[in-house]
Amino acid sequence: MGIVLSGVQPTGNLHLGNYLGAINNWVKMQHEHESLFCIVDLHAITVRQNSNELRESVLSVAAAYIACGIDPKKSAIFCQSAVREHTELAWILSCNAPIGWLNRMTQFKEKAGKNREKAALGLYSYPVLMAADILLYKATHVPVGDDQKQHLELARDIAGAFNRNYETELFPSPEPIIIGDTTRIMSLRDGTSKMSKSDPSDNSRINLTDNTDLIAKKFRKAKSDMEEGISYDVEKRPEVSNLIGIYSALSNLSRDEIINKYANAGMAEFKSDLTTIAVEKLSKISSTIKELRENQDYLEEILSAGRDKARAIANTTMQEVRDLVGLR
Ligand code: TYM
Repeated sequence: MGIVLSGVQPTGNLHLGNYLGAINNWVKMQHEHESLFCIVDLHAITVRQNSNELRESVLSVAAAYIACGIDPKKSAIFCQSAVREHTELAWILSCNAPIGWLNRMTQFKEKAGKNREKAALGLYSYPVLMAADILLYKATHVPVGDDQKQHLELARDIAGAFNRNYETELFPSPEPIIIGDTTRIMSLRDGTSKMSKSDPSDNSRINLTDNTDLIAKKFRKAKSDMEEGISYDVEKRPEVSNLIGIYSALSNLSRDEIINKYANAGMAEFKSDLTTIAVEKLSKISSTIKELRENQDYLEEILSAGRDKARAIANTTMQEVRDLVGLR
């Protein structure tokens, strides 16, 4: 048995990418490992957030975790900023992480854009906070989508650097768990960019709270191409391949089975069946999110219990870290 830790930023709506790339795998893993699922509000503020919306969004993400199948009796669900040790460990780790390693992070380059000098320091050091999230709990398994792979490799390097610098084996090397064929769900409007909360077009993503009509509309409008029929080729047919990937992840049919099934069918029929499958899977999640969201007291209770469980572990690790580093 290992220790699982993962998290989602409480910014905007959770979408199908978050679900299929990450949360769906957490649900399975929580039965095999001790699991902690964090709502990373400190990561969210690397980009300016409205404070009321941020507070509310933490509750919405907690509701989404539970609606997707995270069992709060089994797994700790907690808010990152409620466990102060995350920031303390992040600082200590930042003193063990060479700038050269951070300079390689592609997500920072993408997010900072051309005006890098004006980007916040927190956006740059974001992956060190992420390493702290993981190492604080000595997590062994970190289930994430493909876009977090580089950050995970950095967390492993930082764990190694700390262990070497302080001649210890305190931190295990966290294993990235990036499983399945659909570790990167792409935008419905552009098959070459990933489905994302920050995409200005809501039609680019299926939100976990979308109703049946909206899901149907978004799949109907989803970009495809001029070629006939259904075939999988990420290079030549990125949009259609993405839709096949989504179908496969939601139905447990392999890509080949799907391609055979629709060998003589048109795009409209394929999209219509995809909608049916997505609605089947997501309607229960979206109605549970709504129900839970109306029961704020329950969500607060879950977050308090999760925080207490997380704090107990975080406290012990930080004591060990302070001793090794020579802090009082
Ligand atoms: P975030 O909030 O961007 O995304 C949360 C999780 O969803 C996955 N994901 C996707 N998977 C497949 N296709 C997509 N289009 C897609 N979009 C998002 C992400 O890979 C992620 O697993 N830095 C992290 C949060 C974090 C974290 C951690 C994760 C902070 N500390 C410690 C693991 C462990 C992030 O911004 O994820």
